[in-house]
Amino acid sequence: MGYQEEEAGEDYIFKVVLIGDSAVGKSNLLTRYARNEFNQNSKATIGVEFQTQSMRINGKEVKAQVWDTAGQERFRAVTSAYYRGALGALVVYDITRKQTFENISKWLDELRTYGGSSVVTMLVGNKCDLTNIREVSVEEGKELAESENLFFMETSALASTNVKTAFQNVVREIF
Ligand code: GTP
Ligand code: MG
Repeated sequence: MGYQEEEAGEDYIFKVVLIGDSAVGKSNLLTRYARNEFNQNSKATIGVEFQTQSMRINGKEVKAQVWDTAGQERFRAVTSAYYRGALGALVVYDITRKQTFENISKWLDELRTYGGSSVVTMLVGNKCDLTNIREVSVEEGKELAESENLFFMETSALASTNVKTAFQNVVREIF
């Protein structure tokens, strides 16, 4: 192997997808992770966006290429292309809206249909800063994660709680 190939071989790029209902906070989780930014008035995503964030694992440069799409059906791009090649997924609900938690099974079905069964998946209960108006308990989140064989974490994109950890745990697990 030549010198350049060896250098290139140090880099890993892992595709990670964000899914979940509209307004659960997918885009803000991503901007918090990739740019340390939060937007109180963010607009619904249209189509697909992605951002890349690097980390070092065991001395290797590992890039997470995180894809973000619309929770709303009418704004979504081609589903199969979105999931193609994904090695990790964060399936997000909003702890203050029960319906977004109930729809998780629909998102898991789609993930398993298009992404296959070996995608490292984390269930994410976002907006844990709003615990005073919580509709989904931590226990319910944990139970669903256990029964579906998922990792689980509550996060807040607003307060920066567990955001980095959630993405990093998925990437570490892929690695
Ligand atoms: P779609 O693009 O339509 O699928 O929505 P989304 O899941 O990307 O949601 P988005 O990140 O745009 O956030 C929706 C709203 O929730 C925005 O007003 C955000 O400011 C707010 N939000 C996102 N994360 C949090 C959080 O952790 N806490 C609180 N309090 N609000 C949040
Ligand atoms: Mg969005």
